[in-house]
Amino acid sequence: MPAISGSAPGKVILCGEHAVVYGQPAIALPVIGIQTRCVVLARPADSNGSVIINDSAIDLKSDLASLSPDHPIRKTITLVLSALSISHMPACEIQIRSTIPIGGGLGSSASVAVALSRAVSAFIGHPLDDDAINEVAFEIERLHHKTPSGIDNSVITYGRPVFFIKNTPLEWLDISSELLFLIANSGIKGSTAKAVMQVRENWGTNRDMYESIFSDIGAISTTMRKALLAGLHIEIGKLMEANHYLLQRLNVSTLKLDSLVETAIHAGAYGAKMSGGGLGGNIIALVPPEKEELITQALITNGAKNVITARVNLREAN
Ligand code: PMV
Repeated sequence: MPAISGSAPGKVILCGEHAVVYGQPAIALPVIGIQTRCVVLARPADSNGSVIINDSAIDLKSDLASLSPDHPIRKTITLVLSALSISHMPACEIQIRSTIPIGGGLGSSASVAVALSRAVSAFIGHPLDDDAINEVAFEIERLHHKTPSGIDNSVITYGRPVFFIKNTPLEWLDISSELLFLIANSGIKGSTAKAVMQVRENWGTNRDMYESIFSDIGAISTTMRKALLAGLHIEIGKLMEANHYLLQRLNVSTLKLDSLVETAIHAGAYGAKMSGGGLGGNIIALVPPEKEELITQALITNGAKNVITARVNLREAN
């Protein structure tokens, strides 16, 4: 039997993270240049029926049965089998390769869940459709942090820019301008679970202030949607910056992220902000093409561990 594969992109959150958990809108964009790819290879009948997992990103080589039932990889496969009403995974080796940095706010966990669900369901001979894949990936996001909004699994499953409000139908953004982003890694791993929990605790003790910040962030997402549709890069940049300052007030940014945001803006970016859960991870900067090299160098000189270029052509992404 030939190898069967499935893949999924990474993502950035352009605006609205954290507030989106509390019902405010957010915008996320797929990043096709970073991705997860899963390959499933059948194993011979004399292999005791075992399923071998080989995930180079987390240095895991193990028998599926020896992983805890709540391990994201085992849980993903269990959910796929259950969606297909199949009781048992045929003997195989599953290879998972990802170029998405872990703990970077770039959707690595959702991307693995989506690519793995695609590969496993195709291997079984019944490829799940995107709606079913999205449900599996949402359940896996729940494992990682208990109250996910659903934005990561949605943008990664469908691979389209999305204006997202929790528990409402997805709204795809269909606009023509090309956006050039630099994604700069602070070198410090973020923890979405920790950041989400910390925001929840602070919201519990300082509800008025947090509600007001969430609603200001929501207003940015609504204005951002218009700016994106109109291709107003300067406006998009300003909104990103304003969103960053509100994320600082939620205490999810770090000195390193702040300094990278300032560096990018100083060097000529339209705007920049941290992206994703925070407490580490990446910043994203919207940059004019002629300044890409200069801003990249400035970010590296000022401590970015590495810088990825992401071209998001919103119409092409659809
Ligand atoms: O997975 P991350 O780090 O990109 O964070 C997702 C965005 C949050 O708003 C912080 C959480 C969520 O579920 O929406």
